[in-house]
Amino acid sequence: MNDNFYNKNIREVIIIEEAQYRDSKKISEIHESRFFKSYELEYIQSLIKNDLYLNLVAKKENTIIAFIIIQKVLDVSEIITIAVIKNYEGLGICHKLILDAIDRLKKLNVKSITLEVSNTNLRAINLYSKNNFKKKSLRKNYYTDRIGKKTDAYLYEQKL
Ligand SMILES: CC(C)(COP(=O)(O)OP(=O)(O)OC[C@H]1O[C@@H](n2cnc3c(N)ncnc32)[C@H](O)[C@@H]1OP(=O)(O)O)[C@@H](O)C(=O)NCCC(=O)NCCS
Repeated sequence: MNDNFYNKNIREVIIIEEAQYRDSKKISEIHESRFFKSYELEYIQSLIKNDLYLNLVAKKENTIIAFIIIQKVLDVSEIITIAVIKNYEGLGICHKLILDAIDRLKKLNVKSITLEVSNTNLRAINLYSKNNFKKKSLRKNYYTDRIGKKTDAYLYEQKL
């Protein structure tokens, strides 16, 4: 199943669809470009093959520009990672990815979605707040940043 939407910011149709095995390399490249600790290609490949994960990509003119990876266990789920190519940031692409993922999770009878986010990642915090996630708790010293400094993580949750 794929979903199309017209993005008025870039005046292009964006397609959201389930990631295929062949998409792993592009996803890992985007991941590497956006995160301090990148995932190995083999790890991404293993997630895409695994039925316990919902892996979506957003494509512009057949090129992947963003992705979301969600783990599903029975009726709960967790956003493992989400990112957009830097040039397409702030255009509503990840907002659409989250909305699409939520629709798909509801159809699978999933009842909640959680995630952890560094308390310094304001862009991501704004994205989740805008998408109705609620802050549940704080995990002290959860992440280590580029310069070795510990940062806290917020745990967010949304009941579906
Ligand atoms: C966080 C990230 C996924 C957001 O993706 P995005 O496609 O740019 O997000 P959207 O354009 O859908 O924006 C959604 C909301 O995020 C917030 N946002 C976007 N750009 C922002 C900025 N520069 N500063 C603050 N908030 C911002 C806004 O609230 C925005 O809603 P609005 O446009 O109605 O104001 C993206 O910045 C990214 O890939 N970051 C690197 C990887 C990462 O940190 N992932 C999250 C790990 S928890």
